[in-house]
Amino acid sequence: RIAGPCGMVLFGVTGDLSRKKIMPAIYDLANRGLLPPGFSLVGYARRDWNNQDFAQIVHDSVKEHARTEFREEVWKQLSEGFRFVPGEFDDDIAFGTLAHTLDELDIVRGTGGNHAFYLAIPPGFFGQVVQQLKEHGMVDSQPGSWRRVVVEKPFGHDLESAKQLQAVLNDAFPSGSIFRIDHYLGKETVQNILAMRFANEMFEPIWNANYVDHVQITMAEDIGIGGRAGYYDGIGAARDVIQNHLLQLMALVAMEEPISFDAENLRAEKLKVLRSITVPHRLDLTTARGQYAEGWSGGVKVNGFLQEDGIKPRSTTETYAAVTLHVDNRRWAGVPFYLRTGKRLGRRVTEVAIVFKPAPHLPFAASATEELTRNALVIRVQPDEGTTLRFGAKVPGTAMEIRDVNMDFAYGGSFVEASPEAYERLILDVLLGDPPLFPHHEEVEQSWTILDPILDYWERKGHRPEQYPSGGWGPSSANAMLKRDGRTWRRP
Ligand code: BG6
Repeated sequence: RIAGPCGMVLFGVTGDLSRKKIMPAIYDLANRGLLPPGFSLVGYARRDWNNQDFAQIVHDSVKEHARTEFREEVWKQLSEGFRFVPGEFDDDIAFGTLAHTLDELDIVRGTGGNHAFYLAIPPGFFGQVVQQLKEHGMVDSQPGSWRRVVVEKPFGHDLESAKQLQAVLNDAFPSGSIFRIDHYLGKETVQNILAMRFANEMFEPIWNANYVDHVQITMAEDIGIGGRAGYYDGIGAARDVIQNHLLQLMALVAMEEPISFDAENLRAEKLKVLRSITVPHRLDLTTARGQYAEGWSGGVKVNGFLQEDGIKPRSTTETYAAVTLHVDNRRWAGVPFYLRTGKRLGRRVTEVAIVFKPAPHLPFAASATEELTRNALVIRVQPDEGTTLRFGAKVPGTAMEIRDVNMDFAYGGSFVEASPEAYERLILDVLLGDPPLFPHHEEVEQSWTILDPILDYWERKGHRPEQYPSGGWGPSSANAMLKRDGRTWRRP
């Protein structure tokens, strides 16, 4: 899978995302020989830079963040296709220059009229940029060539704004040319959820309410909000992570087998399950939200959220959110899905734990099974990628005593192949025009339909999120939420 002749225009070149993810991914793709030799990268920003300045910015980002080793000959060939166009997002003249630049690149680099516009900018600017691209004839592809637009979350901040955003994009691009990035779908371990479920016979028969007690989906981070106050304050953990990454993970775990893995069939199954998700009535008992207070992270004393630079002193934005969801269908009736995410928690870990019901009868003395917990299948999304099966085994010795053991699959132990970074895979898919790993607009809307009542409830309640110490495992209300159901959170 090597991309054909094409180029990319990057809006937001000065942002964190471009520097840490997009630019390094482009270099890594080139280094792996997956980009066409004449690939072009055009940066557009409100900066007084020339092509060399831009190349230097990309160079620094590649040196710092690329996964693959730096090779002079790859860099030379790639950087010859770099151009920079300075301008505001509504600058008519600059967009005219951009259009000429693309024409020039088609001639000198052989990009064939194929260009992806990557909007790594706040969604508030999408309208202006798309309008300018349209007015300058950059969205219409000629026969045999393509134009695509790539957008990053947040896809709106609620259902209404998501619809408006879609209307803005649709005004210029047909729906098949819009690629929404949810980088979790580009992760190797996330794709493996489908491989595990549907390439094997042993999991599906027990993948239902008859055997599964509940499911826990955790995305914990040890970092705080860093320099992202401007983005994060007012957005919060639920919009930042649950609306997209965690609901997508949940859809992959709960959906039925698709007819095939093409975008349409995959989407149909994801949508079906997203539409079956219901939110409990008592949101006071089934959700929790918190805000990190000062504490310790990696042996270092760290500030609380309200003391972070750029955060309003009385901000009610949550940095931790937990929700209980149900899937209202035959497979999952009565099985709660607990989703949680938070910043400044004990460690960085994302996992999906399928926790099974206890054995219906144990022919052992109660004392023999004292230390036995529930069987669980844990999909370790990151950082220690793999899968763990936890079950009871007899402790060696003369007495009958049963204790939990783990059976482990670790990527490093089974595969020599390195997995590409999520952004590499997704950018390549954009250039190939391969849509299965990109959430469709209907999925985005459906996810907001699930989350909006919870967000409304939190807002109406007008409470401040509960403070939790940095370096711990979140607010006590999240523990109480599971305790009420007779369950506890896993400690990854
Ligand atoms: C992003 C969120 O989508 O995912 C960030 O906006 C979060 O807040 C990041 O830190 C985590 O990504 P990863 O791949 O490191 O789990």
